[in-house]
Amino acid sequence: MNLILFGAPGAGKGTQSNLLIQRDRLHHISTGDLLRGAIKSGSDLGVKAKSFIDKGELVPDELVIGLVKEVVVGKGPGFILDGFPRTVIQADALGQLLKGLRLEIQKAVFLHVPFDVLFSRLTGRRVCKSCGAVYHIVSKPSKKEGICDVCASELVQRNDDKDEVIANRLKTYEEFTMPLKSYFKQTGQYAEVDGDRDEESVYKSIKDLMIL
Ligand code: AP5
Repeated sequence: MNLILFGAPGAGKGTQSNLLIQRDRLHHISTGDLLRGAIKSGSDLGVKAKSFIDKGELVPDELVIGLVKEVVVGKGPGFILDGFPRTVIQADALGQLLKGLRLEIQKAVFLHVPFDVLFSRLTGRRVCKSCGAVYHIVSKPSKKEGICDVCASELVQRNDDKDEVIANRLKTYEEFTMPLKSYFKQTGQYAEVDGDRDEESVYKSIKDLMIL
């Protein structure tokens, strides 16, 4: 089963991907994680990407499509695309790429979460500087404040989780990513899950879709 998880910033794509990787052994392809990795390594791509991410804008299609191509080629079936595609141009490019590799996406799962909930999820998110584990100061706090339960490293706030950047990310999402709902309805791959529930209930709904 190959899945796309899409939805607004903070909808829970990363959280659900982590459950699916651990429990269902799917491969995880997250363009957000790949781009943050490129920034950390100081590569040319990372330098270019940072200027867009820090403002809450999308990284240009050609850069992200090139990155995904490198990662998808060589992957067998059984993957989750998290945060890609995010524009209709990216969705078309993915269709072409997968056709060439004789792979296909069975479901494009939209995680629906109301905007007011998204804002508090993003402002309260903390991530481990070292292993990337994700917490929330209210709904999923670490045992020791500011310290990762998994590897004991420092928890930090993502640069793009600051109020002013969040507003722009949500605007960008509405303009460029929302149209993918109709796109995937037309391809017959669309499925919707109520993401405004506890993690386990959301996971169960995604699993139910996987056996349909
Ligand atoms: P990316 O890292 O993909 O960010 P995003 O899409 O904005 O999504 P987030 O990571 O913010 O949220 P999420 O849905 O994964 O939520 P999470 O599970 O962490 O991309 C970052 C940037 O990179 C983009 O803005 C763009 O610039 C660039 N980029 C990436 N892909 C691109 C592309 N394809 N094209 C162009 N540019 C691209 O959860 C959030 C919080 O909520 C956490 O604290 C979590 O604990 C909590 N939470 C999760 N689920 C629940 C729940 N069920 N109940 C209560 N709390 C929950």
